[in-house]
Amino acid sequence: MRIDIISAVPDILNSPLNYSIIKRAKEKGLVEINIVNLHDYGKGNYKQIDDYSYGGDAGMVIMPEPLYRAITDLTSQRDYDYIIYTSPDGELLDQPMANTLSIAENIIILCGHYKGIDHRIREHLITKEISIGNYVLSGGELAAAVICDSIIRLIPGAITDEMSALSDSFQDGLLAPPIYTRPANFNGWEVPPVLLSGNTKLIREWQEQKALERTRELRPELLENLEG
Ligand code: ADE
Repeated sequence: MRIDIISAVPDILNSPLNYSIIKRAKEKGLVEINIVNLHDYGKGNYKQIDDYSYGGDAGMVIMPEPLYRAITDLTSQRDYDYIIYTSPDGELLDQPMANTLSIAENIIILCGHYKGIDHRIREHLITKEISIGNYVLSGGELAAAVICDSIIRLIPGAITDEMSALSDSFQDGLLAPPIYTRPANFNGWEVPPVLLSGNTKLIREWQEQKALERTRELRPELLENLEG
């Protein structure tokens, strides 16, 4: 998979995409992440990328030309499955969406910024708008990092034990059951005895029951989605 992220503040993306599972996936050649600095496509000597909005609302708007040039520079080199724009207006990211995106070959993620981008780019070039939650971030970079993380970990081979991604919370529509490690007794707080029993069938049943209980208690709407 190749992910091109277009950003006006590319430095924000350095750290979140350079550790742990994402770092390993890059080293294994499972994903290539290319960060494009929108200023490289800016206008004139000052590499201008934004301007005042028509209509006079406060705040600057990213101009269509730099966006058009940045996107078409990429699309002239290869086909893209999705040209994503991060925005609180978009479709809410959830596990099924991450699963769908994880089988794409090439993705562009354009990070929103300032007041927004010229709407014509959204109408004519963007093929999918994604929100990571019902709140407003200062820019789309952190949203882009969240989207990347949620999909890269699903690429086969990104996680050593593939079962581990499949048993994540949400993969079966339920929250994950509680997990424990040694010591079996810490401060008098004991690990549930069934987990020490060595009886895999009983352990599975306990985990399924706990997953259901936790979902019913903490996120009952997920069960309605399953039943609906
Ligand atoms: N940009 C600003 N807020 C956002 C959000 N909630 N999701 C995605 N992109 C955003």
